[in-house]
Amino acid sequence: MSRPELPTDAPRLAKPVEAAFTGTLDELRLEARGCRRCPLWRPATQTVFGAGPQDAAMMLIGEQPGAQEDLAGEPFVGPAGALLRELLQQAGLDVARLYLTNTVKHFKYEPRGKARLHKRASASEQAACRPWLAAELARVRTPVVVALGAMAAQTLFGSSFRVTRDRGAWQAIGPATSALATWHPSAILRMRPPEREVARAQLLEDLRKAATRAQRGGPGAGDREARARPTSDPARR
Ligand code: URA
Repeated sequence: MSRPELPTDAPRLAKPVEAAFTGTLDELRLEARGCRRCPLWRPATQTVFGAGPQDAAMMLIGEQPGAQEDLAGEPFVGPAGALLRELLQQAGLDVARLYLTNTVKHFKYEPRGKARLHKRASASEQAACRPWLAAELARVRTPVVVALGAMAAQTLFGSSFRVTRDRGAWQAIGPATSALATWHPSAILRMRPPEREVARAQLLEDLRKAATRAQRGGPGAGDREARARPTSDPARR
């Protein structure tokens, strides 16, 4: 398969992307099934690629699949997904019109007896997976993107991004794409009251904000300009 670069007006990630995949979204999904770009494929059951229509109203980017997503092959089908889907509904968003994906496409875990304990993907595993996310952003081309949690937020906006400090603010990640970052539902499930209720309300507020912008059809005044990007990165050209 030939490998042309990503279109110049595709949304850009702040973190470097080592490769540019070609092909349609369905072809990418098939190709990702055999991904060996990092060692995570070996213990995982399968690649968990993004799911949703190519003309989605919004893309939501999580961190990495959990145990249930690994078995189902679908993103956000476990407890974090249940909370996310509940809040999406409260925000008036139809999940069938959304594209759900992750920064890293394989479940990483540590076996503990019969259990598989979630482990955070390393920086090099995240880097190996970034071309898939860059390719999804280039194919789906939704005007609104929501990053859930620090891993996705820093991939889009850079390592200095802090969800506690910077959540809910729009940034342009392409000429026709606005993104904001907010709490990851898993982080909320790990919190105790009263922090949990506060973060849950903030996640809902941010999803409502994203829903309003998606209804309007995309970027608006007040988005920060996309940052200047080095040209060595194929996804940034
Ligand atoms: N957490 C994520 O970040 N993604 C999933 O798909 C499930 C849980």
